[in-house]
This record gives sequence, structure tokens and C-alpha cells, in this order.
Amino acid sequence: MDNRIIASVVGASKQYQTGDTVITALAETTLDIYKGQLTLLVGASGSGKTTLLSLLGCVIYSTNGKVIVNGNQVNEMNQKQLANLRLRSIGFVFQSFNLLAPYTVIQNVMTPLNLLNIPQKEAKIRATEALKKVGLGDRLNFLPKQLSGGQQQRVAIARALVTNAPLMLCDEPTASLDTNSVGVIMRELKTLSQTDRAVVVVTHDHRLFSFADRIIYVSNGQVSETPFDEISFN
Ligand SMILES: Nc1ncnc2c1ncn2[C@@H]1O[C@H](COP(=O)(O)OP(=O)(O)O)[C@@H](O)[C@H]1O
Ligand SMILES: [Mg+2]
Repeated sequence: MDNRIIASVVGASKQYQTGDTVITALAETTLDIYKGQLTLLVGASGSGKTTLLSLLGCVIYSTNGKVIVNGNQVNEMNQKQLANLRLRSIGFVFQSFNLLAPYTVIQNVMTPLNLLNIPQKEAKIRATEALKKVGLGDRLNFLPKQLSGGQQQRVAIARALVTNAPLMLCDEPTASLDTNSVGVIMRELKTLSQTDRAVVVVTHDHRLFSFADRIIYVSNGQVSETPFDEISFN
């Protein structure tokens, strides 16, 4: 096996049953995600990007086929095992940051380390390091509301990278940011990908294309390495 591969989707699809209708959110898909690369998942709204990201993130089970993350067969694991796999192997960055409002910046970044039962002293050191990496070493004791949107997103990135997870998954991480913050965030994600991690970013934002090592297009539940004609990015 290629040891650059961190996650594989093998003939996997996802269908949702709502009442009498079955929606194919993702048609049968096969692809590998590599460490050392920033991969963009690009497509119109409703095309299946979040579904594919959720499969890679071990948040949902595929209906058919297999998903393998960090050597683990996801479909053979129960919810508790998946929660453990997510905690150890995956960092998530969401569009809406998902920071805990009453907690300071450093407390937010320490959260996954606390879940891993890392001693407080070590957790503090590691959280401080992660925050320095994203340029927020002087904001440790601020509350999220005292930061700009771009800074809050950088806290979310620090929280995702503090466990040294080999797979970083970002769902529209720049959607609510100004162009300047987009550049800062994407350069950080790019640098992270170069430290032997895989970074996967869902977007329909053209400004992100120049940061990609690889672009995967999603249209109507279908996945392709070349653009679909009918794709629209509005
Ligand atoms: N939990 C769900 N139940 C039913 N349909 C869903 C669910 N999640 C997603 N879908 C449907 O699957 C399709 C793909 O959704 P999604 O992956 O969220 O697209 P995107 O992230 O590209 O906007 C859409 O038609 C959406 O309505
Ligand atoms: Mg989505």
C-alpha cells in the first residue's frame, strides 16, 4: 500500500431515504486522499461535497462500498470506535468556527487534548504552540468574541491541529471571511499540508484554487478529477 494514502473511498456511495424517495447524495465513488497535499472538493451547492467530507471524516457510514481512514475499516466500526478514530486521526474546521463562547482561546484549543486525557500542563504547552503556529500567541486568554472572524477561524485551525491528526477536513472554512483573511487561512492550511498531513477543503470559492495541489470536482453526486461542463460556482 502507498504509505502516502491517509484515506480511501472504495466504491462507496451514500443514499438517504426520506419518506418514499431515495436521494443519492453521492454516487459510487473511488478515490484516495494523500498526505502532503492540499485537496479541494469543489462543486455547486447540493452536489455532495459535505457528504463526501463526512464519509472521509467518519461522521456517516457509506450505504455501499468501503471507507478506510488511517488504516481503519470505517464500516466495520461502531459509533464509539469511530468517535475515538475521529479524535485521534482527524481535525475538523467548520465554516462557522464552532468555538465555545464562554471559553478562552487557549481553553478552546485544549478541548481535544482534555478528551484525550493529556495532563493539563502538557495540554497547555501544546495548545500554546499550536496557537503560536497560527500567529495567535498573544491572544491566549481572549474570548472568541474579542477576535475578528479570521482570527476565530485560526483558533479553530489550531484546535484541529493540536492533536497532530494526519487528516484535516475543512468545510467551507473561508466562506465568512474577507479576502485578506482568506489568504492568511489558506496559507496556513497549505503549510500544514506540507508537514506530512492531508488537508481537504470543501469550497465553491474560486479564490482558493491557486492553493490546491489537487482539485476534485463534485457535481450531482458524481466525482471527477476534471471539471464538469455544467458546473457553476455562483
Ligand atoms: N441527512 C440527509 N438527509 C437527506 N438528504 C440529504 C442529507 N444530507 C444531504 N442530503 C442531500 O444530499 C445532497 C448532497 O448534499 P450535500 O453533501 O450536503 O451537498 P453540498 O455540501 O455539496 O452542498 C443534497 O441533495 C442534499 O439535500
Ligand atoms: Mg455542504
